Amino acid sequence: MIELSKIGKHYTEGNTKQNVLKDLDLTISDGEIIILFGKSGSGKSTLLNIISGIDLPDEGSVTIDGAKVTGLSEKERTLIRRNKIGFIFQFFNLIPTLTVTENLQLPLELNGIKDGDDKITAILNEVGLPDKANSFPEKLSGGEQQRIAIARALIHNPAIILADEPTGNLDYETGLQIVDLLDRVVKQKGKTMIMVTHSKDVIGLADKIYSMKDGKLTETLKEAYLE
Ligand SMILES: Nc1ncnc2c1ncn2[C@@H]1O[C@H](COP(=O)(O)OP(=O)(O)O)[C@@H](O)[C@H]1O
Ligand SMILES: [Mg+2]
Repeated sequence: MIELSKIGKHYTEGNTKQNVLKDLDLTISDGEIIILFGKSGSGKSTLLNIISGIDLPDEGSVTIDGAKVTGLSEKERTLIRRNKIGFIFQFFNLIPTLTVTENLQLPLELNGIKDGDDKITAILNEVGLPDKANSFPEKLSGGEQQRIAIARALIHNPAIILADEPTGNLDYETGLQIVDLLDRVVKQKGKTMIMVTHSKDVIGLADKIYSMKDGKLTETLKEAYLE
């Protein structure tokens, strides 16, 4: 379970103070899929960074599985993040100088996980790219790169996936294929996911839908989108 309580976050640039998140509360149960809509600049990525412990709020607390992440040192937060969380980004963020296999080895090494080769073979099969093990990212299409990025997010078996506009850089058809994949490897495996998106095509995955506005979240009923 993830609990955010009274989260406040501001940025200061020059003389201007911008309150990005204001007194924001959010509770996410294990296995829930949460979708976050909101205009560009409304604070969605900031919120994901605070959930993951990459960034700290100015006010309020984040608790993951009973551990108050906001009370931990940066080192302790890093260990929790590596172990419990997988990330998926709009621009894939694969390391260009490493092959697919080497990209997939990183989260395993960081978590001290053995049997890496078997895990890599299995996850490449799951994402439908068993023949790309030795390819470099630039030789892959956008959709293929995102499949590998999803494999990288999942390979160390985290309970939580944070996805920041995962279909935002893909054409419509490829985006739908990525949604299908996330359904299979995240939702149907009972993982918790918080996905930021502008696409209505992901709504089928959602248990709850929120809109970010003026630093707060408002829940929108799924039915409102599915007439
Ligand atoms: N490190 C930073 N320093 C200053 N301002 C920032 C920083 N990160 C984000 N912001 C500002 O905070 C606001 C929210 O950003 P972000 O969370 O990235 O929005 P979103 O993901 O919804 O587009 C934006 O106005 C952005 O410019
Ligand atoms: Mg963003």
